[in-house]
Amino acid sequence: MSIIKDVEKELTTIIQTLGYKIEKVTLQPSGRPDLGEFQINDAFPLAKENHCSPREIAEKITQELKKEKKFKNINIAGAGFINLSFSEKFYLDSLKKLSKDIQSNIDKEPKKKIIIDYGGANVAKILHVGHLRSANIGEALKRLAKLLGGEVIGDVHLGDSGLQAGMVISEMKERYPNLPCFKENYQKEDFHLPITSEDLSIIYPEASKKAKENEEKMEEARKITALIQKKHLGYTTLWNKIKDLSIIEIKKIYEDLNTSFDLWEGELDSFQYIPEMLNDLRDKNLLQQSEGATVMDIKEESDKKEMPPIILIKSNGAYIYETTDLATIYGRVKRFSPDEIWYVVDSRQELHFEQVFRAAKKSEIVSKNTKLEFIGFGTMNGLDGKPFKTRDGGVMSLSFLISLVNKETRKRLNPMITDKKEQEEISKMIAISAVKYADFLPYRTTDYIFEPSKFADLEGKTGPYLLYSTIRMKSLLKKSEKMGYQSYKISKLKNETDKEIIQILITLPKILKKSYEFKSLNDIAEFLYKLTNTYNKFYSEHHILTCEDENLKTTWLSLTEVVYQTNLLLLDILGIRVPEKM
Ligand code: ARG
Repeated sequence: MSIIKDVEKELTTIIQTLGYKIEKVTLQPSGRPDLGEFQINDAFPLAKENHCSPREIAEKITQELKKEKKFKNINIAGAGFINLSFSEKFYLDSLKKLSKDIQSNIDKEPKKKIIIDYGGANVAKILHVGHLRSANIGEALKRLAKLLGGEVIGDVHLGDSGLQAGMVISEMKERYPNLPCFKENYQKEDFHLPITSEDLSIIYPEASKKAKENEEKMEEARKITALIQKKHLGYTTLWNKIKDLSIIEIKKIYEDLNTSFDLWEGELDSFQYIPEMLNDLRDKNLLQQSEGATVMDIKEESDKKEMPPIILIKSNGAYIYETTDLATIYGRVKRFSPDEIWYVVDSRQELHFEQVFRAAKKSEIVSKNTKLEFIGFGTMNGLDGKPFKTRDGGVMSLSFLISLVNKETRKRLNPMITDKKEQEEISKMIAISAVKYADFLPYRTTDYIFEPSKFADLEGKTGPYLLYSTIRMKSLLKKSEKMGYQSYKISKLKNETDKEIIQILITLPKILKKSYEFKSLNDIAEFLYKLTNTYNKFYSEHHILTCEDENLKTTWLSLTEVVYQTNLLLLDILGIRVPEKM
């Protein structure tokens, strides 16, 4: 159990012993640090229940608390806010617990099986800035859920059944008409895919341009896409080869982003469930015909806004995004029986998911208890406040975006690093930390502006600042090891900053819980900055290694170790790698 939860439990017992009915006391960081480090507001609801003044209750509680050695400066503010601080002994004991194992200070959530659908890369297309946020947030939420005890499955849910399939195949047909897969009587014989990833990156934009300019081409793309959806042997074989090639490139970028998936499935994998699912819906009398399309009504009485029916089969017989997402849920329930499925996708897709979720619930594809959660995120904008585009208005590729930040981190690299390859690797790692950290700082649904030089700054709330500071902690610890220290005795604190660091560390479980509840990493990002910044203040106030008081010195080293470990843990949750040097 975490330190803070332990104290809360104790406080609860104290108040219960006074005869009050209370389930759980909540200890909060004080809004008035001049009066105390933490505060308790429970006198207010208790006063209501007991028909007396909050002050009266607060007084009774404080009298009891004064008997406890761990507290000091217990006082009542306003109508009944109880402020309190902890004694030095409490802080030293807390540090001892943390230094044994920082994980012991983490409270687990009720164990759940969770599928996280994130990433969402599209086969044969480039990854763009929209995919960046999904990868960052999804990966971090996956790591957080695991840390808090969840059984988590990450699925990239590749976009592979859309029109790009038909476009690319049609273009391939034009370029390589003699490929065996295009023969009328193609019988599965193997062949070599004559293109590279580089070719592919040109083929899709070109095919898309042609289809947009020429209705006939577009029609052909539609036809081929429909045939792939129906598993046409030749086209499917070719598309699978293209998919493999594309996945290699997609994986490289995810690897840079420190993002990995348990499942590499896609929309096409859901097609096997579609007939069964549609039969099920038909049996339940949930399907209607509307202008040639097959739809399902999902309106609810309490609706205040327009809720269009969900289309499952288009009038031309094709399945669409809605169909594959519903069938994917169908398959996931069948294979994994998850308690929750989370979707980390651009907020602009919210209506789509609301439709799909409603259909899944109404048709009982998922049980009432299964939680389907849309975790939308805002856009990353350019300086003009509009979604980030290339200069000519095109989609900005993710690798280009990273290269823009990389230019900035490169400039700030330690000149002592002279090996070219090392320079490149470290600079890229820092650039990604810069992009990721900037991405986590605002609340998940908030839009933010892409500012490479600000993100890459070594000062302020940035990834590089955190990395730099963390590396410095490590090198301090290494030096102490060389001086012969193997473990650090904890016995003495010196000033307010020492205490403040432990005070911050104690609040971590609350931060993790909040991030988990809101599915937003901003509180963890802020926490990391606050902890690091306070540590840096401590670092400049004390000459740790040359301190003559051994008791202080080893306590300080232990504090350094705990902050270092905490930073590593949290940076890892955020999917940020720490280089050896920078
Ligand atoms: N491929 C989609 C896109 O690029 C995102 C997929 C999101 N996940 C899902 N189950 N629909 O917009």
